[in-house]
Amino acid sequence: MTEAKSRRPAAATQPPRVGDPERFAEDLQEEPRLRPTALDEFVGQAAVKEQLRIFLQAARQRGEALDHVLFHGPPGLGKTTLASILAQELGVDITHTSGPVIEKAGDLAGLLTNLGPRGILFVDEVHRMTPVVEEYLYPALEDFTLDVLIDRGPSARSVKINLDRFTLVGATTRSGLLSAPLRARFGVTLRLDYYGAGELATIVRRSAGILGVETGDDAAVEIAGRSRGTPRIANRLLRRVRDFAQIRADGRVTLPVAREALTMLEVDERGLDEMDRRLLGALITKYQGGPVGLNTLAVVVGEEAGTLEEVYEPFLIQEGFIKRTTRGREATSLAYTHLGLEPPRGVADAARPREAGAPRRPEQPELPLP
Ligand SMILES: Nc1ncnc2c1ncn2[C@@H]1O[C@H](COP(=O)(O)OP(=O)(O)OP(=O)(O)O)[C@@H](O)[C@H]1O
Ligand SMILES: [Mg+2]
Repeated sequence: MTEAKSRRPAAATQPPRVGDPERFAEDLQEEPRLRPTALDEFVGQAAVKEQLRIFLQAARQRGEALDHVLFHGPPGLGKTTLASILAQELGVDITHTSGPVIEKAGDLAGLLTNLGPRGILFVDEVHRMTPVVEEYLYPALEDFTLDVLIDRGPSARSVKINLDRFTLVGATTRSGLLSAPLRARFGVTLRLDYYGAGELATIVRRSAGILGVETGDDAAVEIAGRSRGTPRIANRLLRRVRDFAQIRADGRVTLPVAREALTMLEVDERGLDEMDRRLLGALITKYQGGPVGLNTLAVVVGEEAGTLEEVYEPFLIQEGFIKRTTRGREATSLAYTHLGLEPPRGVADAARPREAGAPRRPEQPELPLP
């Protein structure tokens, strides 16, 4: 069982966008060699790493399996990477699967009984497990037993089997959709956050080294600044800039080459692409800056409401281009000025974007809003 394809059915039918944090076929191919394999190689997310270091050391000292871990946060920030790093650091086997792939309780039993000692079961999109599978998982998580049903009809009986101690590592982009009982069974819950520009520049330089592309430090900073706080996008932009450098220049990624390539890709200085600008433009010109409901906005820009909410909005909100209110979405003054428009009087100021590592603002509610 490999990692599931794109979460979003719409993405599969549309050409991949360079600024989309979702994993596309090309990323599936290219990402494995760019993945850090040790915690020390993993750039940024200092608070998450510090906690993990302690839990890893404690588990190692006791010779026990690590407590169950949940990683949540937007796509492309390193959840899957961290899961693999945990296995590497502990020297245990890891099996990758994903919530929607586990169709029956039997599938889960198969996965759990085949894990090596203190092994890790990595479940991506863990919020998409069926309720039946989830129920079945609870005793396994709590006291490492499974009730297996043997035979059918009148002779059916349930047999309890004991499992080796294991660690469930769950990942989700939608932690709000996780059921409360499942959430409660994770001993460690860690949220990944967008990366700062300096961290992304380090990631770009590291990836350039692995890909063998000569990249100027200023060019790395330029690519990082347009990567929407997301390593997956930073790596993807680097690959596209590399192609451009190869065909239009001498193969070296210099600042002018990076700028020219990124302009051609229609990724602007803040990392917004054509779709983001269309969204802000619609909000401002068609609805006087809002508030406007998500579904209306989705129809106007021709994208699925769920995709707007999960993919475009988090970054636009984080960077202070839009505000999500109970009455709908509103453009901030930053959205106007970014599009070269004069903000009308009384329009909300953009909240200052958070510096990497600074305390997070209260999380946006994940409940559907208008
Ligand atoms: N902290 C980091 N340092 C270096 N590279 C990173 C880091 N985080 C992520 N990456 C790179 O970004 C890519 C995407 O990371 P990953 O697949 O782990 O994200 P994810 O959070 O699992 O995304 P999704 O929600 O789509 O599954 C990987 O190729 C990895 O190399
Ligand atoms: Mg992942």
